[in-house]
Amino acid sequence: MATVGTSSSDDAKSHAAGRTGRLFDGLSLPASADFHVHLRDGEMMAAVAPTIVRGGVDVVFVMPNLVPPITTVEHAFAYQQAIAKHTDAQTLMSLYLHPSITPDTIKQAKKSGVIFGVKSYPAGVTTNSASGVVNYEQFYPVFQAMEEEDLVLNLHGEAPPADDITVLNAEEAFLPTLFDLHKRFPRLRIVLEHCTTGAAVEAVAKCGPNVVATITPHHMFLIIDDVVGDPINFCKPVAKLPADRLALLKAATSGNPKYFLGTDSAPHLLGAKRGGLDMHQVGKCAAGVFTQPYATQLVLEAFEAAVAKGVVKQEQLNLTTLEGFLGDFGRKFYRVEPSGRRIKISAKGEQVVPSIQVGGSNANSSGQVIIPFRQNNPIYSLEWTS
Ligand code: DOR
Ligand code: ZN
Repeated sequence: MATVGTSSSDDAKSHAAGRTGRLFDGLSLPASADFHVHLRDGEMMAAVAPTIVRGGVDVVFVMPNLVPPITTVEHAFAYQQAIAKHTDAQTLMSLYLHPSITPDTIKQAKKSGVIFGVKSYPAGVTTNSASGVVNYEQFYPVFQAMEEEDLVLNLHGEAPPADDITVLNAEEAFLPTLFDLHKRFPRLRIVLEHCTTGAAVEAVAKCGPNVVATITPHHMFLIIDDVVGDPINFCKPVAKLPADRLALLKAATSGNPKYFLGTDSAPHLLGAKRGGLDMHQVGKCAAGVFTQPYATQLVLEAFEAAVAKGVVKQEQLNLTTLEGFLGDFGRKFYRVEPSGRRIKISAKGEQVVPSIQVGGSNANSSGQVIIPFRQNNPIYSLEWTS
């Protein structure tokens, strides 16, 4: 019978898999934390926000790339109130790094107690990034204020489009910018969001302890071949090579507090995924993979698959490592207290739902659905136990 490995520090909490022989069957864990989510607004938010808790998550760091983007404390606060109508999960809000943000905005943001970070999108690299950053230098006074106020800088780490930049090397080409910002603002807490390459994992390891990275479940499943030809798997940054996926799995199961869960769950209507003129009016395939209802379950499935393939050792998956990646490391970085709530994982033959309806009256019209990642595939079940 398979067991979840234990380290000497958590022998007492060791877990033996249940009758199914599945690695995590019967596992009890603290509620997970998801430090990178897109909840959108309007009908999409109403469909998506209630799914946070289904993924075993009780606290989320919410992205600001609405249309228009969230650039003021008032807007962030109003957005938080709107989300609260659809979920009990705790929401940590962010601002969108934009020329209208000044050091004074940063002071206000800190004072509000609502804003935990400022998200930087390089202009043009992804969904709703048209008003993103062209030149980081113009934001140095803002970064300095963030360092003083101790607000987190969240980096979408891709170099903007250029002749020699492709989706495959854009993340690696961004890493000198990460090093440069860290050098200029050594006390600034920085998250390299959704890292997808071995190079990014190594870069974060080389920086000081205040530079960390989020890792998504889907990047621990996918490689570039899974993305080409399947819009449901298309997101930015795109999944890369098998060696990169392995580096992410190793980082996520390393027990190193620099790497923790941020799903980057990013719902789009099927119509937008098919390149219809939709929410973003772009007429291209919308970037984003939707994982919110299965945040914890997908991580465990990815870890179990890695053990089955022999690329991650089962002993690596002790409770300290699992709890660290799924919530503890991120909570410590963002300085949020655990709620004390717990979840239980079981293997009951559940499958990922085929789709999630968006909207009421028009719900049956074509394209008014979100297709979740790994639709119809087997998935662990999850219940809240306290
Ligand atoms: O794939 C992505 N989708 N990457 C991002 O950075 C943004 C996100 C979205 O908002 O859809
Ligand atoms: Zn994102």
